[in-house]
Amino acid sequence: MRKFVVGNWKMHGDRSSLVELDQMAAAAAANPSVDVAVAVPFTLIDRAASRVSALPIGAQDVHERDKGAHTGCISAAMLVEVGARFAIVGHSERRGDQGETSQDAWAKAAAAHRHGLDVVLCCGETQAERDAGRAERVVQAQIEKSLPEDGDGSWLTLAYEPRWAIGTGRTPTPDEIAGIHAIARAKMRMLIGERADAIRILYGGSVTGENAHSILSIPDVDGALVGGASLNAARFVPIIEAAA
Ligand code: G3P
Repeated sequence: MRKFVVGNWKMHGDRSSLVELDQMAAAAAANPSVDVAVAVPFTLIDRAASRVSALPIGAQDVHERDKGAHTGCISAAMLVEVGARFAIVGHSERRGDQGETSQDAWAKAAAAHRHGLDVVLCCGETQAERDAGRAERVVQAQIEKSLPEDGDGSWLTLAYEPRWAIGTGRTPTPDEIAGIHAIARAKMRMLIGERADAIRILYGGSVTGENAHSILSIPDVDGALVGGASLNAARFVPIIEAAA
């Protein structure tokens, strides 16, 4: 499968940051064997999408309903209107900060797909869950409750992001990453059959230009979901190149 490198700017970036996308788009064009995409804050989606039309721009969340009295929320149709091509759902920071559940992630993924958006569906355990030896079971349960029944690789990507590795500079060992990715693949096969084999599984959590090549070489790691290192081209482009 083609590697997939996704940037997630989180709550960073303003209009002056958009210039970084130019070199990211150029790196994507220069490495055609890799799929690249960047999720920017809602406020930048339209300008980003019109600035680098060949680089898919996405959102970091989406509401599960199409419209209604949901103050502060953004629907899939609104994202499509401003040029978003995909949405990240179920990110562990939203699970932690906003109390989002796997059921919420399932509904958000369904809404995004209904409106033609691709979806990056996140899962991952906390430090306490890993320390208690429950990482595999937690990830399996998250997948079981959030994986869309009609999911397939044409629009759905899974991202494994151990919460304790996000923004910490720490990553699981290659064997730990390989183990979770294998379990995630097996769980998806159990739920949706052979369609699971075409769903790319990204690793996220302190991916940098220095560790990207080794992480991307791990079996069943089909790409990376990158936070801090995606904020500027100088740090993100080496990760794109490592995936080529
Ligand atoms: O969504 C990607 C993010 O959670 C990983 O963050 O800064 O550890 O690459 P970071």
